[in-house]
Amino acid sequence: MRKNIVAGNWKMNKTLPQAIELINEIKNNKPNNNAEVILATPFPYLVKAVELVAGTDIKIAAQNMHQAEGGAFTGEVAASMLTSVGVNTVILGHSERRAYFHENDALLANKVDTALVHDMTVIFCFGEELKDRQNNNHFNVVEYQLRDGLFHISKENWKNIVLAYEPVWAIGTGETASPEQAQEMHLFVRNLVDKVFGREIAENVSILYGGSVKPDNAKEIFSKPDVDGGLIGGAALNATDFFGIISGI
Ligand code: G3H
Repeated sequence: MRKNIVAGNWKMNKTLPQAIELINEIKNNKPNNNAEVILATPFPYLVKAVELVAGTDIKIAAQNMHQAEGGAFTGEVAASMLTSVGVNTVILGHSERRAYFHENDALLANKVDTALVHDMTVIFCFGEELKDRQNNNHFNVVEYQLRDGLFHISKENWKNIVLAYEPVWAIGTGETASPEQAQEMHLFVRNLVDKVFGREIAENVSILYGGSVKPDNAKEIFSKPDVDGGLIGGAALNATDFFGIISGI
């Protein structure tokens, strides 16, 4: 049985006092249902975030990491640094990393390998740009992002993988994929995983949708059979909206 997950990706937002306030609010008042809640805070707050959620079932994630084990990479963060502070989940392949930091599929494949060596859970993001959808090329784009960035892993590694479909045209734009568009892509991806790794793995992997999920559209999107939760940006930055989305599971 696959997990339902609502992950908040805070991106480059909030000061430490604001982060502490939001984590405490989520910890104390989040709706109790079967959604696993993950908070991907900025790097400087991870240690504090782990401390604040200790003893709860909330998980803390990093938004990125470097592929090397360590060394002369000024400004970067290694997997062992994350796990040493209790962060065992990392978002990789976010479209903002792909677009602004030129992360390509080969680099992402390396990052995935490093994360898996450290037994981390990877939230692997993928999704087409608007021009791909307009050209009816969105299934191809997604297939190659998955094949080139992720599908080299072994069957055993799939227990550490969460997939996140994020159509670039829906991120931060207020334009959400319709529940039908999300379902169509999620089913395509699940069938692709089935074709390459088998039915059991395909049935067990959680596939999240991300892109302008809000309290008023979450329930309908999450009601689709192959949508197992969401990766939330803007609406994860305040507790009321985030709770509304969690309640949609
Ligand atoms: O990681 C989250 C996604 O980029 C979605 O962001 O909810 O602000 O559209 P958004």
